[in-house]
Amino acid sequence: MAQQTTNLPLRTLGSQGLRAGAIGLGIMGMTIAYGTPDDQSSIATIRRAYELGVTLFDTAELYGLGTGSNEQLLGRAVKDFRDDILLATKFGYDFTDPAKFGIALDSRPKHIREVTENSLRHLGTDHIDVLYQHRVDPNVPIEDVAGTVAELIAEGKVRYFGLSEAGPGTIRRAHAVHPVSVLQTEYSVFERGVEADVLPVVRELGIGFVPYSPLGRGFLTDTVKPAAEYPADDMRSTDDRWQPRNYEKNLAAVRELTALAAGKDITVTQLALAWLLAQGDDIVPIPGTRSPQRLQENVAAAQATLTPQDLARIGKILPHGAAGSRYNEAILPNWQ
Ligand SMILES: NC(=O)c1ccc[n+]([C@@H]2O[C@H](COP(=O)([O-])OP(=O)(O)OC[C@H]3O[C@@H](n4cnc5c(N)ncnc54)[C@H](OP(=O)(O)O)[C@@H]3O)[C@@H](O)[C@H]2O)c1
Repeated sequence: MAQQTTNLPLRTLGSQGLRAGAIGLGIMGMTIAYGTPDDQSSIATIRRAYELGVTLFDTAELYGLGTGSNEQLLGRAVKDFRDDILLATKFGYDFTDPAKFGIALDSRPKHIREVTENSLRHLGTDHIDVLYQHRVDPNVPIEDVAGTVAELIAEGKVRYFGLSEAGPGTIRRAHAVHPVSVLQTEYSVFERGVEADVLPVVRELGIGFVPYSPLGRGFLTDTVKPAAEYPADDMRSTDDRWQPRNYEKNLAAVRELTALAAGKDITVTQLALAWLLAQGDDIVPIPGTRSPQRLQENVAAAQATLTPQDLARIGKILPHGAAGSRYNEAILPNWQ
């Protein structure tokens, strides 16, 4: 394993001492969502990330559809440097009915404990650095969820408590039981929903923010294609932003962003990540990739600087984010 050679700065997430390299790595696409997995390239990507100073690695029970495959892949890849990095995983789904994968929720305390034990085993570790509730479960009071994670922290099995796609009221209620260190929710130049009510609350409470899908699920790159050109098991084949009419509008915006990026000698992907980093020191995006080369490009975004004029220009190109909904109705989170 090569030594770390990095000038990736560290950022502080929340008020409980969590610190991470300014850009993390999302592991989801290594087993689901974006076409055929390639374990060898994925493991090389995780190891390259470590060498470049990435410390926050983001997985979930969901990304293995309850089998643990995504967590196992990550655990295998990091075993030589596990203590130098942060493993973040998530609970909150119910996998008993395959027809309801990704829809059925279960954050009952007993289930949280079971999933946590499974995650520890799959990751091959004795502690999880950040344990997130993946989706708010309307059938379980958030106080019970926070209380259960607090117990796991007291037992040394978990270090920091995170929420994902929680709304302002839920964040406040959870934080009152046990401090929330980090909120993870979709945020990018394509998706700005958190700016109105969510970011102000996490900032008021001193909670860090991890934007997921920071590249708009791959639209904010130079590799985008129309929906019909992706295989059926690639979520972009059905994603609303890729559908006719939305696709053309979004592509036109990405072309304008690409021209702006080219003038700064960076790629559009780096522009998208630099834009997120410029939204505050409390932000650590987690772009996903299965390629060591693309990973390197993404990490280098931390060296890019956007001027106030660049930020204003991006705001003009995409004043309200992308055309098309980020999720279909059945799984669109309902923030409360
Ligand atoms: N909490 C939640 O509910 C939630 C939901 C979704 C995602 N997440 C987390 O957020 C992470 C990132 O989100 P995401 O994977 O959905 O979307 P993303 O990071 O916005 O985009 C990932 C896509 O972009 C491509 N890509 C990455 N870097 C590239 C580059 N430099 N050039 C060209 N293409 C590039 C990847 O393809 P290649 O792999 O081929 O490079 C992949 O198809 C996930 O891995 C997961 O950990 C969390």
